Amino acid sequence: MKIGVLTGGGDSPAINAAIRAVVYQAKAYDFELTGIRNGWAGLVEANFSPLTVDTVEGTLTKSGTVLGTSRTNPFKTNTVDKVVENFNKEKLDALIAIGGDDTLGVLSKLHHNDKPINGVGIPQTIDNDIIGTDYAIGFDSAVTIATDAIDKLRSTAESHHRVMVLEVMGRDAGHISLRSGVAGGAHVILVPEEDFDLTEICKFLKKRKEAGKIYSIIVVAEGAKPKDGMQMAQREVKDQFGHVMLGGISSYLVDEIEKCTKIESRLTILGHLQRGGVPTSFDRFMATRFGVRAVKMVEKGAFDQMVALKGKDLFAVGLKEGLAKTKPINMDFYQQIKMLF
Ligand code: F6P
Repeated sequence: MKIGVLTGGGDSPAINAAIRAVVYQAKAYDFELTGIRNGWAGLVEANFSPLTVDTVEGTLTKSGTVLGTSRTNPFKTNTVDKVVENFNKEKLDALIAIGGDDTLGVLSKLHHNDKPINGVGIPQTIDNDIIGTDYAIGFDSAVTIATDAIDKLRSTAESHHRVMVLEVMGRDAGHISLRSGVAGGAHVILVPEEDFDLTEICKFLKKRKEAGKIYSIIVVAEGAKPKDGMQMAQREVKDQFGHVMLGGISSYLVDEIEKCTKIESRLTILGHLQRGGVPTSFDRFMATRFGVRAVKMVEKGAFDQMVALKGKDLFAVGLKEGLAKTKPINMDFYQQIKMLF
């Protein structure tokens, strides 16, 4: 069997750990692998490279992806025929695609295309927003980086008696914000799943100050929105692939908080720092499990599915079902946490 492997969408720590596991499991089955460069763009352009044990040597602790990535979507660029042509020319039997909802969505569409391509997906996104799995590769590393940032902001917040606003990624889901906010002991945690009330936040911050609490830390997800719908203009900015570019809500928050509380405030946008560094052991471990399972699924012919974690166990979940909608945070937990702190 000959399997093409690609990584698409935003990168994250531990993708290489998944590729490495795919390589070793494929070797055990005596399957041949082809590395597809830069996500779906590599199949459009027939940009292939060997993928062997040598390629993945020493990559377990390296962030990024040795295969390169892109946000190219052949269904948006009318290049599906090229994808099918190059898949056949390379004599591939199946694909393993590692990525988020966009990347895996293309895999699903290709399976249901009039010239179907078989494939298995591995969920990977720091956003952890794929409904079909409890976990996506990269999330734990991103949360660890965000928690570390909160820990570092605490001392300066305390020394200067300031409100510090930390903006984290996550697109339309608040998983990074909620997880790091709780782990880092943030006083306010804002998520896209619930529009925030600025008046309430200001009241809360003033109350904290009156009670002698000399600083406050706010974690805000990049996709969070105020109740009054302000700052929506920034959401119209799109990248070259048509994705809305998020970011900047912390600047709005800091301005408004200073106006209504008169407390000096500062912002930090963590941005792409959340996608680098040494992957956590949890991410490396999960990526290895996902990679091994993906090759086993190919061997069994379990196509049009992705590897998924449910509780502690791995399952195969249909791509259509697994990508049906964005996975929201647990709102019950969010409401409880808000009341506690
Ligand atoms: O989906 C992963 C992610 O890191 C999001 O959290 C973020 O909004 C987006 O990618 C940023 O994308 P880009 O790398 O294209 O700026």
